[in-house]
Amino acid sequence: MLDLPTTTTPRYTGPRPRRLRHNPTLRRMVRETELRASDFVHPLFITFEPGVERPIGAIPGHAQLSVDRLDAVADELIALGIPSVLLFGLPATKDARGSAGWDPAGPVPRAIATLKARHPELVVIADVCLCEYTDHGHCGVLDSATGAVLNDETLPLLARAAVAYADAGADIVAPSAMMDGQVAAIRAALDEAGHGEVVILAYAAKFASAFYGPFREAAGSTPSFGDRRAYQMDPGNGREALREVALDAAEGADMLMVKPAGAYLDIVRQVRDRFDLPLVAYQVSGEYAMLQAAAERGWIDERRATLESLTAIRRAGADLIITYAARQAARWLTEGE
Ligand code: PBG
Repeated sequence: MLDLPTTTTPRYTGPRPRRLRHNPTLRRMVRETELRASDFVHPLFITFEPGVERPIGAIPGHAQLSVDRLDAVADELIALGIPSVLLFGLPATKDARGSAGWDPAGPVPRAIATLKARHPELVVIADVCLCEYTDHGHCGVLDSATGAVLNDETLPLLARAAVAYADAGADIVAPSAMMDGQVAAIRAALDEAGHGEVVILAYAAKFASAFYGPFREAAGSTPSFGDRRAYQMDPGNGREALREVALDAAEGADMLMVKPAGAYLDIVRQVRDRFDLPLVAYQVSGEYAMLQAAAERGWIDERRATLESLTAIRRAGADLIITYAARQAARWLTEGE
């Protein structure tokens, strides 16, 4: 007969990370990554029409807004501690060159002027791209023979739009067209126009992503033919993303962006490790739409899943997050656990 030991459970003598998880206060004390309302940027879609607040189906809680409806939104954001907005425009007319993009009477310049006059503490970021303003929906001008998006011909138009937004009082311009040399072209034009203090937030690594779907409904910017893969990046390319970021930093970007966020956290981490400029990640429309749709069906908990996704983006190394969930998240953070 074997002589069995009297204790049935063997004694574990190794490390015990669970010690730090025993109670909520202790867990809070050792939390490495905190979310704050001041990390968030709230996107806004500004229409040329007056008196409009038109809900965007695929981006619940967001609407196409008239300039005259901005005051209430700005008050709400400031009360929640959200410091900044990112503006996109829905113009009255579109043409082949996207000329409504630099019209000083267009929706974005008017929105900038209104917001800065009444809420000067709000940091206003203007997206700089042609896709909302071109009749073909591409981010640059086209070669009439081939339909290809022309890089160098697009640069002065982006620069013109950036100067128009700076003239209106934008604090930050954010070029998102993914044209080579766009940051340098915009920096030179801003400096030339006396806007040396205006910040450039470069959409440095922007991928050709299926997660932009709901945005194109919101901004009416779906390409009328083809797709954006000849200028936005291939989702499989990580090293190329770092090269894009390095170029934008060298061209004079003040802040860098990786977009989308959730499926590209490896890029966020690598950019954080290699570059010292402030880093922004964009949790795009499709990421938000997925969270909202699953929560609506009762498949996930909206609050926990949203805060988890935002925490992961910060943990990966983003300083700031552009997110359609900014208002909910800011509210949840003040409520506590
Ligand atoms: C403009 C632009 C897009 C987004 C931001 N700026 C659309 C696109 O590139 O097709 C997408 C943002 C989102 O999905 O929330 N080029």
